[in-house]
Amino acid sequence: MSVVTITPDQLQTIDISAATLWCRQLEEGNILLFPETPVPLPEADTHFLRTLEQSSSGLHKNLAYKPALDRVSGADMKHADAAAAARLHVILRRYSQDVTGFLTRFLLPYHAQWQLDYASFRPQEERGRDLPLRRRNDLMHTDAFPTRPTHGARILRFFNNLHATRTRDWITGEPFAKLAPQFAPQKIPMPTPPGGVARGVQSLGRALGLGRALPAVKRSAYDSFMMRFHNLLKEDAGYQAHGWREASFFPPGSSWMVYTDMVPHAVLAGQFALEQTFLVAPQAMVAPEHSPLGVLERMSGARLV
Ligand code: SIN
Ligand code: FE
Repeated sequence: MSVVTITPDQLQTIDISAATLWCRQLEEGNILLFPETPVPLPEADTHFLRTLEQSSSGLHKNLAYKPALDRVSGADMKHADAAAAARLHVILRRYSQDVTGFLTRFLLPYHAQWQLDYASFRPQEERGRDLPLRRRNDLMHTDAFPTRPTHGARILRFFNNLHATRTRDWITGEPFAKLAPQFAPQKIPMPTPPGGVARGVQSLGRALGLGRALPAVKRSAYDSFMMRFHNLLKEDAGYQAHGWREASFFPPGSSWMVYTDMVPHAVLAGQFALEQTFLVAPQAMVAPEHSPLGVLERMSGARLV
């Protein structure tokens, strides 16, 4: 695992062989870093986002933009200033479009093979946030979404550090192919191939007495494993204390991207980040043997989606 720095020169002439190499570097578990973001925001928009918390008391949580619905959620519009909410919406929509436009060129082999997932704005200081264990982002984990199973699609995330002066500080660990055999099957059972589809959220809903209030989420065996693996890593005090890790400091004004389903990561400090998530189809992989799905299918000898 390492951080690969992409220089502005390399962005001048992107051809298919360069783009394929970048896909491969991501799929091997590297972080691609752009010291100067290729997706800059107008300075006035950056300033607006940094001061949103003070100016609009309702807009203070992590804010998600859902491109498919063209909607912002997480903002309490009742208390928010309507003009601020509208401006936030415009900024997030444009960010989502700009990142998509850039990656359409930069990651050419993935063209038309991803689903645009949520974008988010992360306004809070990450150091010392008080969150329930499974929602803490300062504990090492691989990403999996409780309500959005991917059925083998990869979770690729692109970030911007919008802070004026401070780095965003991460630690990252050994990629999935090295990590999974340290936990499975001893601490977590290998996924078993379909037959019955796990309905994690539905049974949770029943346990909470919600009846049919929650929609059924169909998780594949792959998704169930990835969700449990996310939880297991966060709950494993030994891994958190002694697991192999290295630190990365993403400069103000930079962007970086990484497959967060395969690279364990935690954010230890930083404030004001934008992020766009893509779900990349498994068929699009240029090195599928490194993917969590490839690794798990090899380990279990079964097809898992
Ligand atoms: C995460 O995906 O765990 C958080 C990353 C960040 O907000 O920097
Ligand atoms: Fe994460």
